[in-house]
Amino acid sequence: MRQVESRIDPRSEVFGANTDWYRGMVATLRERQQEAISGGPRRDRSIERHLARGKLMVRDRIDLVIDGGSPFLELSTLSGFGQYDDTAPGAGIVTGIGLVHDVPYVFIANDATVKGGSLLPVSIKKHVRAQQIAEENELGVIYLVDSGGAFLPLQDEIFPDKDHFGGSFYRQARLSAQGLPQLSVVLGGCTAGGAYVPALSDEVIMVEGIGRIFLGGPPIVKAALGEIVDPDELGGADVHTRMSGVSDYIAADEHEAYGLLREICQSTNQRPIGDRQSWANWQPPEPPAYDPSEIYGIVNADDRIPFDSVEIIARMVDGSRFAAFKPEWGSSIVCGFARIWGHLVGIVANNGIIFSESALKATHFIELCEQRRISLLFLQNTSGYMVGRDSEVGGIAKHGAKMVAAVANATVPRYTVLIGGSYGAGNYGMCGRGFNPRFLFAWPNSRIATMAAATAETVLVDIRLGGLDADSTSEEEIAALRAEVRNQYETQSDPYYATSRLWDDGLIDPVDTRDALGLCLALASRQDDAPASRPLVYRM
Ligand code: COA
Repeated sequence: MRQVESRIDPRSEVFGANTDWYRGMVATLRERQQEAISGGPRRDRSIERHLARGKLMVRDRIDLVIDGGSPFLELSTLSGFGQYDDTAPGAGIVTGIGLVHDVPYVFIANDATVKGGSLLPVSIKKHVRAQQIAEENELGVIYLVDSGGAFLPLQDEIFPDKDHFGGSFYRQARLSAQGLPQLSVVLGGCTAGGAYVPALSDEVIMVEGIGRIFLGGPPIVKAALGEIVDPDELGGADVHTRMSGVSDYIAADEHEAYGLLREICQSTNQRPIGDRQSWANWQPPEPPAYDPSEIYGIVNADDRIPFDSVEIIARMVDGSRFAAFKPEWGSSIVCGFARIWGHLVGIVANNGIIFSESALKATHFIELCEQRRISLLFLQNTSGYMVGRDSEVGGIAKHGAKMVAAVANATVPRYTVLIGGSYGAGNYGMCGRGFNPRFLFAWPNSRIATMAAATAETVLVDIRLGGLDADSTSEEEIAALRAEVRNQYETQSDPYYATSRLWDDGLIDPVDTRDALGLCLALASRQDDAPASRPLVYRM
């Protein structure tokens, strides 16, 4: 593979201006993440009370479980951002991937300083998403349980439906049957539904004095039976480890519990991170030849000015080497092979609007990767598929559909990063959330919506003027509609709006993208190869 020859001039004025703008965005991202982690004034009192009870903060707990000095890939840190009156930083739950004795595990850990660790609608979505990641990547799950269970005021949005609370228990039971260890440490009250997280686990540790499990807590027992009972006598660590058998081990404090958990992990018989299977093509990695932080200067502050995705790829892949496929044809999509942390990947990246040729090229390339069993990485930056009479006559709908069908059916591991716009059906053809990529990350400059705000404004005004009420619509009403649509689209296509709702697995700094993807690819490389997809019917 040849090294990309960059055409970027890092000394140019526009590069400098872009860099300043992007660094500002990264600073905002860090600030917001920090606030989600450590609180803000409204959470100070609950953090104080939590610490006064001798309990550790949720991320300190995770640090004590994972291998010293190893990274933790935290997912969706900004879930819940701007929702629920800003009272649910991180949705009150931390999820991510960390190593224990070199074996990767998914962590699902409640943050009891946010609404007592109870689960809001977005928290349950985050919990279930972490379990999905465990299933696809064949990872055991470590639950650090400190939760008031369902957030009761919103019970209709978390209890009854598919992928609500019941779905999380359904998945937990099935993950265990898949041979993926389900391990719990109980660090707080697990009431009602919450009691099933430990009860469905393969092995359970309870921490004396703070861990409690009961189907009905003391208030419910009092209401139902008139019994007044102390919480520890009802469901403390002693009761469940020495009498009921709901728990398997008792620990005097959190430190002892995490030591015990690490001991348990020594006999889970799971494949370690470096245990690459024969299909996974790997070579010793090399850093990119071009500095990844130059991405800040390449992405244009003015999103109407395109940037070349090859320049981005060059700052993400090993040795900046990229073997482009069909470089002279369908150039609004770039396809080609590269390595990320040594793992061979096929990359599909947008360079603007998707035309028929680009869609056909991408379809051909996806099929190549599927046949050769090479993981696929999609870098989204598109306003969608080309519209207009020439495109329609040229069959853009059927060519786009071929790309969508190929993406949907590829059985090799697929990953997506939103590096710019993700609009319209471009989101689908480029393996958006609906197409179940194993991981989907977004950059702080990304935008996601059916269409850009300016286009939506025109479309919706035209629809109104073509409708039954057209004659009675005043100029003022049209102006108000324009403003309302623009405001709605600008708000809803903001990456913080998206990440808050878990449309991605997290907003990441472009510079960290290579490392995050390296870990994701390593997870897949320890799995057996999946059977290739069956032949599809492509509309020719
Ligand atoms: N639904 C909604 N809010 C809840 C909640 C729940 N299930 N559990 C706790 N909270 C909220 C509290 O209202 C409080 O909110 P605030 O900070 O706005 O005042 C915050 O979480 C902390 O709760 P608090 O009871 O003060 O904390 P604690 O550490 O003393 O106790 C629990 C934590 C989880 C043990 C306790 O709140 C509890 O038992 N909750 C109810 C559990 C339950 O019955 N769940 C049913 C699940 S189906």
